[in-house]
Amino acid sequence: MTNSAVANPCDTSTANGLNPPPVRLPKLVQGVGFAFFRRRAMRNWIKRYGRIFEINVPFFGRSVVVSDPALVRSVCTASTDQLSNVQPNLGNWFGPGSLFGLDHGRHRDRRRLLSPAFHGQSLKNYEKVIEDETLRESANWPEDEEFRILEPMNRITLNVILRTIFGADEAELEELREIVPPYMKLGQLMAFVPAPPSWTGRQGPWGELDEFRKAFDRIVFTLIARAEADPGLGERTDILAFLLRSRHDDETGTLALDICDELLTLVCAGHETTASALAWTFERLRRHPDVLAKLVRELDEDGTALRRATIMEVLRVRTVIDVLGRRVSSPSFDLGDWRIPDDRTVLVRMADLHENPEIYPHPERFDPYRFLGTRPAAPTWLAFGGGARRCIGADFAIAEMDVVLRTVLQNFRIQTDAAADEKSYFRGIAHTPKLGGRVVLNRRT
Ligand code: HEM
Repeated sequence: MTNSAVANPCDTSTANGLNPPPVRLPKLVQGVGFAFFRRRAMRNWIKRYGRIFEINVPFFGRSVVVSDPALVRSVCTASTDQLSNVQPNLGNWFGPGSLFGLDHGRHRDRRRLLSPAFHGQSLKNYEKVIEDETLRESANWPEDEEFRILEPMNRITLNVILRTIFGADEAELEELREIVPPYMKLGQLMAFVPAPPSWTGRQGPWGELDEFRKAFDRIVFTLIARAEADPGLGERTDILAFLLRSRHDDETGTLALDICDELLTLVCAGHETTASALAWTFERLRRHPDVLAKLVRELDEDGTALRRATIMEVLRVRTVIDVLGRRVSSPSFDLGDWRIPDDRTVLVRMADLHENPEIYPHPERFDPYRFLGTRPAAPTWLAFGGGARRCIGADFAIAEMDVVLRTVLQNFRIQTDAAADEKSYFRGIAHTPKLGGRVVLNRRT
């Protein structure tokens, strides 16, 4: 990548070693564009400045925004000494013991500890849970009647992650099913908004979040105490058991409060993202009868390749998490010909990468065949981010989408029509179909 491909030819600040071109608008206007009209703002700024430029926005301050594949590769392959965790991050919401809040050695150790729970045999073990939860949720779906599939998908993915984390479906999980959805809704909106200095700990949305958090911790402490008393803890495969065993091996390891932060992280990060991607899948299939027919045929012949390709294409064409962040933590960081100073935020805009016509011809088209027989990867396909902080649940999410889609297609016929595409709705972190992914289904006989 050379600067000639990304720089504004009118801007003289593109010489080697200088900052990327800044967006020349008042900070407030940039902030409103970034927070509420991000897609449109980014498109305008890319057109004007190229695929690397600098914005100045609330919370992140001066931030370099990148969507050029070669520059994105540099961000993803940088060492954690050069680019560390973005500030602020979701650790503000989930607590300092959350993967989102950890950095450097502690981050690496926690990932090493959790990884086995999200790969290999563990994933195989979860397939039955995912299928059961899909069948349970879909048992009462209406026929011949339009309904939003987003909420049912949220319930499936929440139940799956709760059972994966805690093992048995204990009574306490019922309480978590009640409190997590409203907590998610509010938490996404407030994740980066600090409580005012005058806050006494009770009022406003921060007070509500605090109440939720206390209830969550109370339930999790009960489940921890029960698991610790379980003589079969050593053989258990749930994530709580993983974390507890690590604490027993090394008393300085995972503390009970860290366990609460991490479990909250996994419950929240691990369900709504996948549910949104699934809702988008049904939203797309309703409008693409050709793809749907081939998927059903493939399923009846026990195939999987097109279903996998469809999932990858949904995650590209409707990118659920559109941006990831890092922070320069060395005296400077060289990004292509640009030199980014210490403490500056670097934001990778995955949605713009996925909509680049030089990488994906006709990027607006839903075309799963692009990925048939190939495995899309960084830096051109970045639905799960990349590098040391790449989504730890990526394989889990793909396996879950695969089993849910397979189970629904096995049991239902999706009615197709020429309904207008649903617009995207930003919930604070995830992008979902604005009308909830409306579908009309019939049972397959
Ligand atoms: C379609 C579903 C999902 C999408 C699109 C998604 C996307 C992402 C993205 C973009 C990141 C940031 C990566 C980066 O900074 O490079 C991330 C991080 C993370 N995700 Fe996911 N995710 C999904 C599902 C899941 C699931 C199922 C889990 C857990 C069960 C999970 C847990 C996490 C965690 C813990 C992190 C923080 C990783 C770290 O900082 O080391 N995600 N995810």
